[in-house]
Amino acid sequence: IIAKVEGVERTYIMVKPDGVQRGLIGEIISRFERKGFALKGLKLFQCPTDLAEEHYVELKEKPFFPKLVKYIVSGPVVCMAWEGPGVVASARKLIGSTNPLTAEPGTIRGDLAIAVGRNVVHGSDSPDNGEREIALWFKEGELVEWEQNNAPWLL
Ligand code: TYD
Ligand code: MG
Repeated sequence: IIAKVEGVERTYIMVKPDGVQRGLIGEIISRFERKGFALKGLKLFQCPTDLAEEHYVELKEKPFFPKLVKYIVSGPVVCMAWEGPGVVASARKLIGSTNPLTAEPGTIRGDLAIAVGRNVVHGSDSPDNGEREIALWFKEGELVEWEQNNAPWLL
C-alpha cells in the first residue's frame, strides 16, 4: 500500500529534529488529527544523510542545502503519512510559511517557531511530491490501511 491509490490524496508530514527535541510531537500531530485527516503511517526515525539529501534533492544547489541536511540528520524525526481530500494544500496551510517570522499566528510555524532553519515541521508541496516522499520515508508494510471510525462525522 505504499503505491498510490487512484483518487486518494496523501501527504508526507515530518516533525523535524527541533520539534522532537522541544517536545512538540504531540502538539503537531494533534493539529492534523483534530483537522480530521486520516493517519496512515507514523514512526520515530533517525534519518541517514543520503535520505535527507534525496528528500531535499530539489534544493541541492541552494546555499543552505548542506546546513539543512545536517539539521535533518541531527536527531530523530517523526515521519507521518496523512490522507484526505486536499490534504497536501490544507497541511501546508496548517503548517504556515517557510519563515516562521512571517507565518501567520494559528499556524504551526507561526505559533511555535522563530527561525527558518528550525521550522519544526515539513509538509509535501504537491500530491506528486507527497507520493514521492511517502515512498522515500516508508517501507512496504509500514503504512496501515484502516477505517477511521470518526469518518462519518467528518464527511
Ligand atoms: P522549502 O521547501 O523552500 O520550504 P518548506 O519547508 O516550507 O516547503 O525549503 C525546505 C527547508 O529548507 C525549509 O523548511 C527550511 C530550509 N530553508 C532554509 O534553511 N533557508 C531558506 O532560505 C529556505 C528557503 C529554506
Ligand atoms: Mg518544501
